[in-house]
Amino acid sequence: MSLSCYFRNCVQMSTIFNNANLKSGSRHCYILLLIFVVIYIFIGVLWYKRDSLVMQSISSIALYGQSEKPLNIAIVVITNDGGTKGYSYAIDTVKCYCKIQGYDFVLAGNVQNSSCNHSDHYFRRHCHVANILVTGKYDYLLFIDADIGVVNPNRRIEEFIDPKFDIEFYDRFVNQEIMMGSYIVKNSDWSINFLRNFANYQYRLPIGKGLQHGTDNGGIHAYIAEILYEKTRHIELTNCKKIYNQSRSWTDLFVFESCIRDMMGVNTDFGHILIFKKGEGWARDNWLTNNMINLNRDFMIHAWKDKQLTKYGKDLPLKIGYKHRARWFNPLVGRIDLAKCNPKNTSWNYNPNLITTKEVIDAELERMYAAIEMEKIDRLSKMMEFIRRVDSKSR
Ligand SMILES: *[C@@H]1O[C@H](CO)[C@@H](O)[C@H](O)[C@H]1NC(C)=O
Ligand SMILES: *[C@@H]1O[C@H](CO)[C@@H](O)[C@H](O)[C@H]1NC(C)=O
Ligand SMILES: *[C@@H]1O[C@H](CO)[C@@H](O)[C@H](O)[C@H]1NC(C)=O
Ligand SMILES: *[C@@H]1O[C@H](CO)[C@@H](O)[C@H](O)[C@H]1NC(C)=O
Repeated sequence: MSLSCYFRNCVQMSTIFNNANLKSGSRHCYILLLIFVVIYIFIGVLWYKRDSLVMQSISSIALYGQSEKPLNIAIVVITNDGGTKGYSYAIDTVKCYCKIQGYDFVLAGNVQNSSCNHSDHYFRRHCHVANILVTGKYDYLLFIDADIGVVNPNRRIEEFIDPKFDIEFYDRFVNQEIMMGSYIVKNSDWSINFLRNFANYQYRLPIGKGLQHGTDNGGIHAYIAEILYEKTRHIELTNCKKIYNQSRSWTDLFVFESCIRDMMGVNTDFGHILIFKKGEGWARDNWLTNNMINLNRDFMIHAWKDKQLTKYGKDLPLKIGYKHRARWFNPLVGRIDLAKCNPKNTSWNYNPNLITTKEVIDAELERMYAAIEMEKIDRLSKMMEFIRRVDSKSR
């Protein structure tokens, strides 16, 4: 007798006002009740003794993403000479952050050697990231451009890790690009292959005088689209490639990228690859919100180059227009003191004039998002010019 059937019988029998039946029916009910009580206590005991073997195996199945063993994560920064020159403000915050949260910090030089012999240093760096994975020291790497700094050292990288994916990117806010300057990559054969083949994409870029292929920023779109759609969507992909093959400026490149993103749609899940929506990744550009930050919302900020740091004066309200967007104000007061960075000290000194509410940041980003979406539509409308030009030549 199945449990539900048993239960139904039990209820039925106790509602029928028949003496004989009631007696045997209620005996069944007591047994059933007793079984439930025993199971309840058993589960309760196990719950409080979470380290018992049974509980461990239950929790490792049921508690998605909360593995017992903490992940070994490193933040990787690759500079030309392996030094911090030109990026010291950003890198100091990252170093301090790693000491606070217990992540390794790996600063590597972008050497050209027989293992990573790419002449384009933008592509070459992804070959080096693959080599760091191969050492087997880390479960995950967070690769960041040298000009990305941390503003909120209380956040954790794990917040962004979904073990389902091998590599995670985020959408660059200001255009239709997948942001190539930062990704979270799992140590897997798939990821190592992905990064190595991507570095080798240098040799598969469109060739021609005066072409603007955008190095790895442009190449990633062609590369990912080939992985996803080479077999199933070759007609759409060929149209996008016709644009890439003629790209002579950033404007042209953005048309190509919009073409690819149009194929990819509004999805974020691409099998092995996750791409966070605009504004939902771990970092964003400083100038989007005129350098204002909110610590409940922001984690890392992009575009902190030492030489663009603009001294903060008394000239309130602060204003950095689009034209000067490479400039930045430092939301941190004074330099980070690396000797004072440890898990017990998460209090950094902020400039109160650069802190605002989450609502203000969200509203500003929403406004920008809408404007950038219009630019995307405009770019998509230019696709035809490129495609016609190729088609008329080949006729
Ligand atoms: C890189 O490759 C080129 C051409 O394939 C070769 O001539 C050169 O020696 C290589 N450099 C290194 C450092 O392996
Ligand atoms: C080349 O550089 C990588 C770092 O990506 C290093 O692991 C490797 O040992 C170097 N190879 C040679 C032959 O020097
Ligand atoms: C793009 O150019 C390459 C050569 O650089 C060529 O092999 C390819 O067929 C072209 N693709 C399209 C779609 O025009
Ligand atoms: C905590 O770390 C910050 C950043 O380095 C530093 O400015 C501050 O003085 C430290 N606080 C303490 C109590 O050590």
